[in-house]
Amino acid sequence: MMDDPLGIELAGVRLRNPVIAAAGTCGYGAEFDRVLPASALGAITLKSITPEARDGNQPWRILDAKAGMLNAIGLANCGLEAFLHEKLPAAAALDTVLIGSIAGHSVEEYCTVAKAFGTAEALSMVEVNASCPNTSDGRQFSADPSALGELIERIRRVLGPKPMLVKLPPDMADPVGMCSAAVDAGASGLTLSNTWPALAIDVESRKPRLSRGTGGFSGPGIHPMVVKLVREVFVNFARDRRVPIVGLGGVLDWEDAAEFVLAGATGIGLGTALFVDPALARKCAKGLQKWTNRQGQPLHALIGAMDEPGDPA
Ligand SMILES: Cc1cc2nc3c(=O)[nH]c(=O)nc-3n(C[C@H](O)[C@H](O)[C@H](O)COP(=O)(O)O)c2cc1C
Repeated sequence: MMDDPLGIELAGVRLRNPVIAAAGTCGYGAEFDRVLPASALGAITLKSITPEARDGNQPWRILDAKAGMLNAIGLANCGLEAFLHEKLPAAAALDTVLIGSIAGHSVEEYCTVAKAFGTAEALSMVEVNASCPNTSDGRQFSADPSALGELIERIRRVLGPKPMLVKLPPDMADPVGMCSAAVDAGASGLTLSNTWPALAIDVESRKPRLSRGTGGFSGPGIHPMVVKLVREVFVNFARDRRVPIVGLGGVLDWEDAAEFVLAGATGIGLGTALFVDPALARKCAKGLQKWTNRQGQPLHALIGAMDEPGDPA
């Protein structure tokens, strides 16, 4: 038996296991702790925060789909001040690492949130949501490397030294170019990925089923595509630059999580799974532990350890 088979270091922050609750799927943390003790998780990513409170889009803004779900929440949140004074103190009492998620409609808005998060002691790390598909301008910074680079550079200046993950979309034309732009501008790690832009149509009314029209698709249907994305970024960029990746997309069980690890992910995000059953996060960590025992190696030694086709057996 190994001493600490699941312990990982993510951008300099120690996590007891690699399982991370994804932004927007576990509220502000404290409400999630009522259904699954936070101590079961390596970290919780809190809901994305903008400077001002937002109601988000009108219903319907969540739908079941055959291989996952569609959402068009549109960054509904309580705003920065209420987050810092009403939500974060309760989350700070949780027995896990907290990641603050930064969002905005302009560089200035992202920077306002980043500056406050930089000095918020309860947040060990931040994640920049540069890829929300559910607002008119949520993906303006993830469409081209120079816009992304400028955003991340400006955020880094006001954030200070706190570890920063940058969360990108799954459908990038040049994933390696985008990831290197983020890291060159000051990102400490990458979260791959946000939801996949999607559309569901009510065939009787012939209207989109989400009030906003399009939304973001998540859950098991996107998993193999995100595994491929993680592998591509790991092999062509992250491995040599020693940049950690959080694999996020469609994980429902330990085997999905182990795939992400072998592809090159250090952390494993769970989003849609938490709507199915929050306890899946704990089951996932338990399954990973048994897997590392069978493999005879701690999890950190298995990161990226997939045999490429043609590798000697
Ligand atoms: C209902 C819902 C709300 C979400 N809200 C956010 C959010 O506020 N910020 C963010 O960065 N991602 C948000 N996401 C995206 C998830 O964090 C995650 O990237 C995506 O769902 C893919 O992972 P999954 O397949 O495990 O769900 C949301 C996803 C869902 C389903």
